[in-house]
Order: sequence, then structure tokens, then C-alpha cells
Amino acid sequence: MARHGRLAALFLLACFVSARAATAILDGLLPNGNFEEAPARSELNGTRVTGRFAIPHWEVSGFVEFIGPGQKQGDMILLVPEGAYAVRLGNEASIQQRLTSLARRTYYSITFSAARTCAQAEQLNVTVAPESDVLPIQTVYTSSGWDSYSWAFKARRSDVTLIVHNPGVSDDPACGPLLDSFAIKTLQPPQRPKSMDSFYLISKSDNMLKNGDFEEGPYIFPDAPWGVLVPPLDEDDYSPLSPWMILSSTKSVKYLDAAHGYAVPHGAHAVELVSGMETALAQDVRTVPGRGYRLEFSAGDAGDGCVGSLAVQAYAARGSVRVPYESQGKGGYVRGTLDFAAFANQTRVVFVSMAYTMKGDGTLCGPVIDDASLVGLPNRVARRLLL
Ligand SMILES: *[C@@H]1O[C@H](CO)[C@@H](O)[C@H](O)[C@H]1NC(C)=O
Ligand SMILES: *[C@@H]1O[C@H](CO)[C@@H](O)[C@H](O)[C@H]1NC(C)=O
Ligand SMILES: *[C@@H]1O[C@H](CO)[C@@H](O)[C@H](O)[C@H]1NC(C)=O
Repeated sequence: MARHGRLAALFLLACFVSARAATAILDGLLPNGNFEEAPARSELNGTRVTGRFAIPHWEVSGFVEFIGPGQKQGDMILLVPEGAYAVRLGNEASIQQRLTSLARRTYYSITFSAARTCAQAEQLNVTVAPESDVLPIQTVYTSSGWDSYSWAFKARRSDVTLIVHNPGVSDDPACGPLLDSFAIKTLQPPQRPKSMDSFYLISKSDNMLKNGDFEEGPYIFPDAPWGVLVPPLDEDDYSPLSPWMILSSTKSVKYLDAAHGYAVPHGAHAVELVSGMETALAQDVRTVPGRGYRLEFSAGDAGDGCVGSLAVQAYAARGSVRVPYESQGKGGYVRGTLDFAAFANQTRVVFVSMAYTMKGDGTLCGPVIDDASLVGLPNRVARRLLL
């Protein structure tokens, strides 16, 4: 009897484990996320997709084109970053896919590659209801013309629909953005790891910044060498680099990893401030008014050929510090420090690159930020800061 009971329990456990393993959505490409499964020829008129469900795993509406090898625009061949196929969204066109087996109340990031096809302010409206953001894609950060973008949402249900819509109304219907390679990643809730290397340790105080090492961020395609842009979002929306916010009207920051050969000051990931003074990387921290704090961070270069006199400016409360860094474009960093006294319950820590810089190929680049920490200072130090 007891033996049967144990076997039954083991059997149930095995079922439970395999059911979980079979259903949870995995990090990586969405089903047909790179559009390599093409529509039937009968559902294409030239490049135009004529059937709503013609592209396997996707649903389209409006003027959507299926772009294959050698497809031209004017006399230029359109390059496809992943495999042979991509899609193009005409005016007010959209594509959508149902995402299933999500964990409710969990945050996910979506990464996809996009290229604009005409020199104008193109945008993409990305939605997983009830969240929706219009991502600017007018600035090109790579020499290939393709950039990878990230976005995040909270799963309110286990089944949701991802919609990508081109809100554009251009005169030329062939001007819409090209899209390829959609992937998903489960985001872990932001943690506050123990600070290891701060000078003023107050009873082994924690790093008050969450995700200060930028280790938790959006999915990066194994075969896309150009990093992933984190575009500006409304402050209330969940960022793929949460709780870091990207504050800008149209410009992004770039998320990089050591696995693609970037020089990362600490850990496996860092952020490159590619948009000069137009973009701030910021995080709000709870503080005690009148108390002193020390912000420390690494400022350097990603070893990606961004040569020049770079500088990062950090701001917190009424304090700021400028950290200059001479970049040979081969990697390296310096440490910046800012001591400040808080005057409010909440203090916004902000990093800005002080100049536009370009690589040899004309693409935008800038300093990398990594390994940021914020710790409380002893009261005697705070009193000095307040003087
Ligand atoms: C294909 O598109 C052309 C141009 O829009 C149109 O004239 C033609 O009727 C379409 N063919 C079919 C089979 O729908
Ligand atoms: C973005 O798309 C969503 C869902 O399709 C829609 O509700 C929202 O109004 C759109 N926003 C803009 C600015 O077009
Ligand atoms: C700090 O928080 C308290 C309670 O949450 C609030 O009453 C007070 O106005 C806040 N002070 C500042 C300076 O934000």
C-alpha cells in the first residue's frame, strides 16, 4: 500500500514537472519570429500579403509586405538581418501574434529588429493590452540600417496578444518600417545586491540602486552584433532595464553584452549612452532628507571603436559630477564618485553623456556606464556635505 502511494506520488510529481516544463514560455525567438516560414504563394500578390493568416503564427492587417532575398526599393536591395525573409508594415498596417503560457503578473521583454526605409520620422506602436508605447525608430545606430529594439510588459493573463502597428500615414506606401526577428525574455524582478567595494560601508549597507550592474535587461539575439536599443518610455511604464528609465523624446540607449565582444567594465552587461545630451539614464531611489549618500559608477568605452574625448555627467539631488574619459575605442573605464545630501524622500540618479560622438562608419556612439552603486554615508560626512 505504502509503496503504491509513493509510486503514485512520484508519478504525479513527474506529471506536474513535465507539464510545467512543457508549457512555460521559453526565452528566445517567438514561433516564426524571424518570418522564415513564408506564406503560400496563393496568399501573396507580388510582395503584398493578401490573407489575414497567411504568415504562419501571425495575423496581419492592412498593407503588409513579405520581403524576400534580393527585394529592391528603388535601386537599393533591402537587406534582411536574420535568415532570408522580413515583413514591411505599410501605413496603419499591423502584425500580431498570440503569446501563450505566460506566467501571470510576470514581466517580459520583447526584442525585435527594425529598419526604416525612408528618411523620415517613422514610429512603431507596440501593444500588449493594456500597455502600449510608440517607439521612435527614426535614428539609425548601425551601419547596416537595422537596429534591435526592446520593450517590456506585465502579463495580466497567461494568454496575451502582441501587436506591432505602424501609425504612419506616408504618401509613399513603400515607406513603412521593415521588421524581423521577434524574441521574448522573462525579466526577473529588480534586486538590490550587496555592495562589495564601497569605501564608506555602513553596517555592510546594501547598494540602494537596483540593477546597478545592468545584468537584468532585454533579450539579445545571439547573431545580432549591434546590441539592443532601449527606447524612451513613459515614466510609468515598465522598462526592459527596470528600474532604470530612459528619458528622452526620441533617442535610445544601447544595451551591450560581453558575449558579443564588447568591453564591459563589470559583469556581463553594460549600457552605452549613444545619444549624447538628448537622453538620460535615470533611477529613482528612496532617500532620507538631510542624509548623505555616495554614488559610484564606471564610465568607459565598450571597445567598439568609439574614439574621442567622452564624458559622463552624473546628477543626484543638488550634486553633480563630470567624469571625463579619453577613449581609444579599445575598452577601459574610470570610476566616478558623487557625494551628495538628499533633500527629499526620493532622489533621482541621472547619467548623461555630455557629447555626441561618432564611430568611423558614421554611427552614433558614446561612453558606457556600468557597476553603479549608491550607499548611505556616515552622519558626520553628511553634515559636511550640507555646509
Ligand atoms: C494584385 O495587385 C494588383 C495591383 O494592386 C491588382 O491590380 C491585381 O488585381 C491584384 N491581383 C490579384 C490576383 O488580386
Ligand atoms: C497603438 O495601438 C493600440 C492597439 O492597437 C491602440 O489602442 C493605440 O491607440 C495605438 N496608439 C497610437 C498612438 O496609435
Ligand atoms: C516624505 O514622505 C512623507 C510621508 O510619506 C510625506 O508626508 C512628505 O511630504 C514627504 N516629504 C518630501 C520632502 O517629499
